Amino acid sequence: MMKQLNGKEVANTLDQEMMQRVSELKAKGIIPGLSVILVGDSGASSVYVRNKQKRAEKLGINFDLIHFESDVSQDTLLNKIEELNNDNTVDGFIVQLPLPDHINEDKVIKAIDSKKDVDGFSPENVGNLWIGQPNTLPATAAGILMMLDFYNIEIEGKNAVVIGRSNIVGKPVSAMLLERNATVTMTHSRTKNLPEVTSQADILIVAIGKAKFVKSNFVKEGAVVVDVGMDRDEEGKLCGDVDYDDVSSKTSYISPVPGGVGPMTITALMDQVITLAERR
Ligand code: GUN
Repeated sequence: MMKQLNGKEVANTLDQEMMQRVSELKAKGIIPGLSVILVGDSGASSVYVRNKQKRAEKLGINFDLIHFESDVSQDTLLNKIEELNNDNTVDGFIVQLPLPDHINEDKVIKAIDSKKDVDGFSPENVGNLWIGQPNTLPATAAGILMMLDFYNIEIEGKNAVVIGRSNIVGKPVSAMLLERNATVTMTHSRTKNLPEVTSQADILIVAIGKAKFVKSNFVKEGAVVVDVGMDRDEEGKLCGDVDYDDVSSKTSYISPVPGGVGPMTITALMDQVITLAERR
């Protein structure tokens, strides 16, 4: 029987534990603080940031939105990052990606103090993850693992296949699955015979950014399928990278879009912010 990985429900449950941690911090006079830098107003990013703000407010985390126009100069942005690096009331901050073309994303990420890099994107934190000594973790990858753990899905010794090799999802989730003793295969747009590879997966993580890309021939009977996609189908309706109607009956667990990975990403981000505040 197929079961849904209901990220919304898991997030609501984990929120209760996080509220408890925030109130323990507040009893010690510490209020966790998250700042988010948003450049421009492009549709998806604004929605993601608004959702982060709502959740922070629910949990009692101080949220500060720093919003720049899309033509902001790189220097202005780098100066703001320097300011946040030195601000003791900010436990962590993120720069919402993607950035406009005139801004060098690598330079921006490298300017963030790794101790405040709550996205886990800085070279130091990426390295920490790959040597098995994680500091902060990229939120989407961490949220996926939290969701698998919530449903007691075994990872050790399983064949895990990841489709997509982005720095934001594919690479970090691969590292985290490897750390948990899965046998991990990283695949991407140039992988040959992709369905042949992915149909070996006990756990299939899909983060390729193509609407309904994964069909039933990609999936082994009984597999756990996690869909990281946020796409639009031909009719403009929100959908994932997995063709849910084609695939779901073959799976043991599958995450829907929306209501799967999305809410868990925010949960993981908030968890990291609280963890940084606990380290103060
Ligand atoms: N854009 C899409 N996902 C993310 C994320 O996890 N962090 C940041 N900073 N930007 C994103």
